[in-house]
Amino acid sequence: MRTPAGQANPFPFYTKLREMGDVFPAPWGGYLVTPYDLCDQVLRDRSWAVPSSEWRTRQADAARWSAPASLQMGDTLPMLNPPDHTRMRRSMGHMFDRKSLQIISHSVDRNTDRLLDRLTEKLQDGEADFCKLVSEELPVAVIGEWLGLPPDDYPLMRELTHDQVFTQELFPSHSQLALSDSATARLREYFTTLIRERRRNPGNDPVSAWIRTWDGMEPDRAVADEAVYSLALFVVVAGLETTSHLLSASVRLLLEHPLQMEWLRTHPENLPAVIDEVLRYDPPIHMISRIAPADSVLGDALIRKDEMVQLLVGAAHHDPAKHEDAELFNIHRRSSHLSFGGGIHYCLGAPLARLEATSLLTGVLRRLPGLRLSGTPVWAPRVAFRRLTELMVVQD
Ligand code: HEM
Repeated sequence: MRTPAGQANPFPFYTKLREMGDVFPAPWGGYLVTPYDLCDQVLRDRSWAVPSSEWRTRQADAARWSAPASLQMGDTLPMLNPPDHTRMRRSMGHMFDRKSLQIISHSVDRNTDRLLDRLTEKLQDGEADFCKLVSEELPVAVIGEWLGLPPDDYPLMRELTHDQVFTQELFPSHSQLALSDSATARLREYFTTLIRERRRNPGNDPVSAWIRTWDGMEPDRAVADEAVYSLALFVVVAGLETTSHLLSASVRLLLEHPLQMEWLRTHPENLPAVIDEVLRYDPPIHMISRIAPADSVLGDALIRKDEMVQLLVGAAHHDPAKHEDAELFNIHRRSSHLSFGGGIHYCLGAPLARLEATSLLTGVLRRLPGLRLSGTPVWAPRVAFRRLTELMVVQD
């Protein structure tokens, strides 16, 4: 699946995995789950746990699970179990409710216009890389402005999040884990400094708001700062690569299906359904992990307490029992998907990711009628977190 062919089209591999059974043991331990309904069931079931730091430190493979990057991830919101999870999630507030989104939408639209101006200019000279110029840029500009980070720091944030993600991959190599550890250390330094500055000069930004909230909840300032740190770290780690992939995948899939793109140009009101079909067809995250809370029967398998199941949501989205002609990209279907997870860990950034995709696709449809692919897309060789690294386009 890490080969260029596997990255370009992982779905035949998922078909093979599906043929091995609904829930089957992975050679590296734990179980793989491919049916949509079973993935959905586990995500919604509050009793299944996430791999917290406490679980990680108990694993025999210390190089994999007790590395600094892994333990740091274990302390972030999606890796906390109740009651810690409940407390931390509440403390984030309504990050992207209607009112906040309205404010952020100005930043999204302004950045979309700026990036499409730059792309249009480049296209006048020939080919341009959509990933480099647009889809890697928009999420970091939006999150950066929202958090109030200096624009000069955006390239660093992008680079560190690309490296940090290896600890969340399926089979990170030793060198990838080392990269992830060093990125985590630099992210810690960056956000610790940011929190110190925001304590000195509080503002009208999410980090200052989280400091106020945690100071009200937690008498120990070091504990409060640690919580704010893990929130700031996680929104950056969670919000950049995933959204970039949604943006690149949307444009790639529409350019590969020109008739559907043409139809959409005259029916832009259907954009929300199109974004859902992109999220179904090729989600940014293809795999979500959970831990059995007790000996549990899942499908026809007995999962022992504390064992991991890997929910292959990328495969589940192509489960023929869930979607008719699941292998076809079809913007006219009513797509259901698990791209933003489900249950208590449901993604808090989903409205922002949708807003960015809507803004960008609206701009591309309106401003670039002759856009087409001019090269084979290139992916990073990963399994869980998809990343398009190059998407060459030209404008006729
Ligand atoms: C297309 C873009 C995105 C995708 C596909 C995505 C996907 C996900 C998924 C699958 C989860 C659940 C993980 C689990 O259950 O173990 C999650 C959780 C989360 N996401 Fe996103 N995400 C996206 C964008 C964002 C953005 C832009 C932000 C914030 C700025 C964000 C913030 C979060 C947070 C805070 C959680 C943790 C929720 C919890 O555990 O209670 N995400 N995301």
